[in-house]
Amino acid sequence: MPGEQVVRRCRELARISEEDGRLTRRFATPAMARANALVGRWMAEAGMAVRVDAAGNLVGHLPGSEPGAGTLLLGSHLDTVRDAGAFDGSLGVLAAVACVARLRAEDVTLPFALDVLGFSDEEGLRYGTAYLGSRAVAGTFDPTALELSDEDDVTVRDALAAFGGEPDALECASRRGERLLGYCEVHIEQGPVLEQRDAPVAVVGAIAGATRAEVRFTGRAGHAGTVPMELRRDAACALAELVLAVEAAGRTEPGLVATVGRLSAQPGAPNVVPGEALASLDVRHPDDTVRAAAVGGLRARANAIAAARGLGVTWDGRLDTPGVAMDPWLSEGLSDAVAVLGLPAVRLASGAGHDAVALSALTGTAMLFVRCAGGVSHHPDESVEAGDVAVALDVLDGFVRSLAG
Ligand code: HGY
Ligand code: MN
Ligand code: MN
Repeated sequence: MPGEQVVRRCRELARISEEDGRLTRRFATPAMARANALVGRWMAEAGMAVRVDAAGNLVGHLPGSEPGAGTLLLGSHLDTVRDAGAFDGSLGVLAAVACVARLRAEDVTLPFALDVLGFSDEEGLRYGTAYLGSRAVAGTFDPTALELSDEDDVTVRDALAAFGGEPDALECASRRGERLLGYCEVHIEQGPVLEQRDAPVAVVGAIAGATRAEVRFTGRAGHAGTVPMELRRDAACALAELVLAVEAAGRTEPGLVATVGRLSAQPGAPNVVPGEALASLDVRHPDDTVRAAAVGGLRARANAIAAARGLGVTWDGRLDTPGVAMDPWLSEGLSDAVAVLGLPAVRLASGAGHDAVALSALTGTAMLFVRCAGGVSHHPDESVEAGDVAVALDVLDGFVRSLAG
């Protein structure tokens, strides 16, 4: 059964991790190379020509019968968050591979080419940004990102070079200027609505905008036993104030979410007053003006906290993506493919970001959500039903064939 095979492959792929006992697969790491090799093998078995582009994206190519008919892009990402589930990203790539395999098995030759993309950095776990791979494909890669460093002081440039990418020739990964029919991504919903509506799939209408930043407070380290409280410049206490301010800000507006997902205090010893503290910030809302106002308020609050405590503070913006609407025509094609199967028509907004955000700068984009258990995601309990995956494969198959006219 194709749905079961995709689920089985997602779970097999999930065993490729940088860490023992949990799934973590960051941009341009040996684990990503192993993931590319495994998925690349499945792409080749489906009859595709396989390569890894200059940005570390895996690319499977199935030519069409008419050279001038252009290319339809399918896929999702192969990188993960820390302690991830097996389906975020992987489901979209392996559903696309299964779609190609089915067309080949049924001797269907499309006029246009199909490219299946396994993007190299949607989550942004290693460098705090996101979309390094899909932005290269879209031709919107910001070269200053090459100088970002990870927790081991390895830059994007060096990581990509070590991975076999071409950091100084990222324009080779760009698809700008090609005749593209669009980009379609299958992805788990990462929310509870499809379960509540008892529907297996939904077409995505829009993806919320997102802001990410790294906030660093700098005070003065000191001896925990001898520095009197009134003389301290404790960076961790400033950070604690900001974390609660972020939570309070997220509660001010319906639909606004604000998160501190990673925080650290340096030098990180129990008997040393922290001289430095670092926090990640993630703020999202479907309306960009609401998000911008929330981010502005938090930036002012961070400055006020630092001033009141005699600390320094820096705000390093890592991501600022506006909300994007999916392409109406492509989304209609997906909705028609859902309707023809007699399935309920569900249209959802996405609070999660996806590579479709980056690809929307290049071509029309469409997304199909698949029901996931309890809406759980970014967690090892993430799971999908093979029957729902089979439905998604039928929708994708119908959608792709419909583009052939
Ligand atoms: O964070 C997100 O929304 C996505 O999972 N990268
Ligand atoms: Mn994710
Ligand atoms: Mn994802």
